[in-house]
Amino acid sequence: MTNILRNPSKFLHRCSKWISDLNLKKLLLILPPILFIVYVFYSSVGGGTVAVFNPFSNSKSTISYVPGGEYDFPARFADESEKKRKKEELDRSRIAVCLVGGARRFELTGPSIIQKILKVYPNSDLFLHSPLDSKAYKLSLLKSVRRIAGVRIFRPQNIPETESQLRVLTAQNSPNGIQGLLQYFNLVEGCLTMIQDYQKQNNFTYDWIVRTRVDGYWSSPLGPENFIPGHYLVPPGSSYGGLNDRFGVGDYNTSVIALSRLSMIPQLDLAGRIQLNSESAFKAQLTTQQVPYLTMRLPFCVVTDRQYEFPPSHYGVPVAALSSRGPLSGAKCRPCTPACTGSCVEVAMNRLDKGWSWTDWANNSLELCDARAEWESGWERVFDRVAGKKLAAARRRIDGMKLDQCVREFAEMKNKTSHWEAPSGTEICSLGLLDSPKR
Ligand SMILES: *[C@@H]1O[C@H](CO)[C@@H](O)[C@H](O)[C@H]1NC(C)=O
Ligand SMILES: *[C@@H]1O[C@H](CO)[C@@H](O)[C@H](O)[C@H]1NC(C)=O
Ligand SMILES: *[C@@H]1O[C@H](CO)[C@@H](O)[C@H](O)[C@H]1NC(C)=O
Ligand SMILES: *[C@@H]1O[C@H](CO)[C@@H](O)[C@H](O)[C@H]1NC(C)=O
Repeated sequence: MTNILRNPSKFLHRCSKWISDLNLKKLLLILPPILFIVYVFYSSVGGGTVAVFNPFSNSKSTISYVPGGEYDFPARFADESEKKRKKEELDRSRIAVCLVGGARRFELTGPSIIQKILKVYPNSDLFLHSPLDSKAYKLSLLKSVRRIAGVRIFRPQNIPETESQLRVLTAQNSPNGIQGLLQYFNLVEGCLTMIQDYQKQNNFTYDWIVRTRVDGYWSSPLGPENFIPGHYLVPPGSSYGGLNDRFGVGDYNTSVIALSRLSMIPQLDLAGRIQLNSESAFKAQLTTQQVPYLTMRLPFCVVTDRQYEFPPSHYGVPVAALSSRGPLSGAKCRPCTPACTGSCVEVAMNRLDKGWSWTDWANNSLELCDARAEWESGWERVFDRVAGKKLAAARRRIDGMKLDQCVREFAEMKNKTSHWEAPSGTEICSLGLLDSPKR
């Protein structure tokens, strides 16, 4: 109680959570009839697969349907032949992979994104939208990507804040306030703009857009079961009162709504939504536009240099060990010797608010770092052991990179990129590799 008095906003947050819990109960009552209607609809329209999040079990289930025929519930998508069929379908589809954010520890994350997403979907086109800073030289790693449709590395500028944005958004829990949110939204929506320009130039529309972050470390491949027509798919957990916005996959139409983070704000304003953080604004975007969403556990974490209290408090942020078995569904992580495993994880995670920074830890998938200080000395060894030879080699290559090599690699990358909009390679490389200290 004293806690509540000291922190009224958290109390309000709890109230809204109770209310949404009530809604969940209503939802459970109306869910069966809806599922039946969906079944009747699909069995009269066509074939395919719909995945539903089953609230009664931790595992995902799928409903498979064929035109007017068999109804198979609950069929596991893990069914290998179904997975293979879906993969073959995706290999014939047009996929855009949107990579946004600052390069930070890209020497750790970049090679994993190449290996676990871009190489898994070899016909996908990469779009990179990233701010120019002293780490941007690390983006030269992307020169090994086969298909690069667009690269935009821009000088960050202040984004004027409109009255509508000031009403709809809150600066709470955003390290750089509302301006920080707008910068992030601009990164995401800018990637959509790049994709749309490219589509116009080439007279086609992508079937799918995969939206991911430059600072994501992927431990396993992005599976074909995550591409679900008519739905936007996000990871569970880390939902901060809304929806986890650290990754998303959707078909073109749902992605347009999910990625229009700046241009949708006036509509949230009209709908009377106020004081939203990134995650609750994201959720409101989908719900006000009636885009159905799903959650599925996904094998990546967001590598962070930031320091966090340990053990995390009710609204604290757990930092996963990069070596955790996963899937980590976009939880924050760093390479560390775990400080908390087994029953310690259970105690720590049960203390967290489920609608906030909590993440799924079932099946020993999670081990925690003590993230109160900087990364431990020798973290490189920890990383190399977890990530394997190939990724370790990429890390070392960036570590020892020379200016002329960097400039050469940017030239190679530019040469194979359809639309290039960035300062010169010399400028990008000098910013990180001359005078200023590395890392
Ligand atoms: C736990 O792991 C087992 C074996 O790997 C798997 O069959 C099961 O579905 C997992 N359970 C959850 C809740 O993820
Ligand atoms: C674009 O593609 C459509 C069909 O795919 C075609 O009918 C149209 O002529 C094309 N337009 C241009 C400008 O190439
Ligand atoms: C996507 O939206 C366009 C226009 O809004 C519509 O014509 C089209 O049928 C939609 N496609 C799908 C697959 O829903
Ligand atoms: C640019 O690409 C072409 C082939 O696409 C290649 O022949 C040429 O050597 C490349 N130039 C540079 C500087 O990498």
